[in-house]
Amino acid sequence: MQQDTSWVPLFPEQASTFAWQVDGLYFYITAVSAFFTIGVVAALIFFFIKYREKEKYETGAEIHGSMALETAWSIIPFIISMTIFLGGAVVFYNQYRPPAEAMEIYVVGKQWMWKFQHGTGQREINDLHVPVGRNIKLTMTTEDVIHDLFVPAFRTKADVVPGRYSYMWFNATKPGKYHIFCAEYCGLNHSGMGGTVYVMEQSDFDNWLSGNVSGQTPVEAGQDLFENKLGCASCHAGANQRGAKLEGLFGTEVKLTNGQTVTANDEYIRNSILNPGGQIVEGYQPIMPTFKGQVTEEQLIQLVAYVKSLSTKKSAGTTSSNTSTMSNANSSPTNNAANVNKLASNPNAPNNRPETTGNENRK
Ligand code: CUA
Repeated sequence: MQQDTSWVPLFPEQASTFAWQVDGLYFYITAVSAFFTIGVVAALIFFFIKYREKEKYETGAEIHGSMALETAWSIIPFIISMTIFLGGAVVFYNQYRPPAEAMEIYVVGKQWMWKFQHGTGQREINDLHVPVGRNIKLTMTTEDVIHDLFVPAFRTKADVVPGRYSYMWFNATKPGKYHIFCAEYCGLNHSGMGGTVYVMEQSDFDNWLSGNVSGQTPVEAGQDLFENKLGCASCHAGANQRGAKLEGLFGTEVKLTNGQTVTANDEYIRNSILNPGGQIVEGYQPIMPTFKGQVTEEQLIQLVAYVKSLSTKKSAGTTSSNTSTMSNANSSPTNNAANVNKLASNPNAPNNRPETTGNENRK
């Protein structure tokens, strides 16, 4: 069913599994609109001529209602609009529910660039390398204003909103280079905030990955922040835990002191780091300080990835000691020096402050 190249002039290629659905719906709506526009205009011209005034002060013939006619012009448009609704619902359902089995990539938008980080640690700016034929899930947020990640060839886009995570997924059907655009006006260089998706054969992608090993994976970086740089471990791990237990937490229902129940998802963990007093877990004291302004969006993503890994590890039965050795081995000398510093200092006052506060960008 997938088209290899675009068969419509000026249209971007169809390069994802749902591109043909979006185009199908688009052309269906266009065809329906064209049919009725042409029909209405043709009838208008025909009646102009047929019922033109043939003698002065002519009065029109009286017309009485027709049940058959009125039923037809109610039911036919109803059916047509319902097909449009159903088509739209199917496309929406496919696009905005990421499949459970997907390769996860983190995205942070920033005036005016796209930062990508792979689960295996590789980082890219404005370029995104992905394998062909795999489900790719993007977890996205922004350091400043609203952006919108748009890949026309995949026929999908999603807003990237400050203070929350949004998601997008796709499965690219053919290797090639495709444009990334920012589709939400975000300031002076909005029009330049673009990039390229490189869709590669799995073997080429594996080569690319192995040639681009760049330090810690998000999980390792999160663990480093958790255990060393931010000192989360002093309350959330060890013998005398004062903070909520995080192992096995992700994806479960959490009871709060106010009687509410929330699902421990990415958003919940992010909020708990930035605004700990907002959602106190039953059985715990509101003693956790806020980390607002002390962690960047990228670090938040890493912390969330680490907390998430505490739950998947448990079910997968892999050892966490591997990760921690790897994390130490991969730490750069600067990181190690920083860790030593931090162990002695207040864990809640990390010296790896975010390089930018966001204000510096708006000169
Ligand atoms: Cu970012 Cu427009």
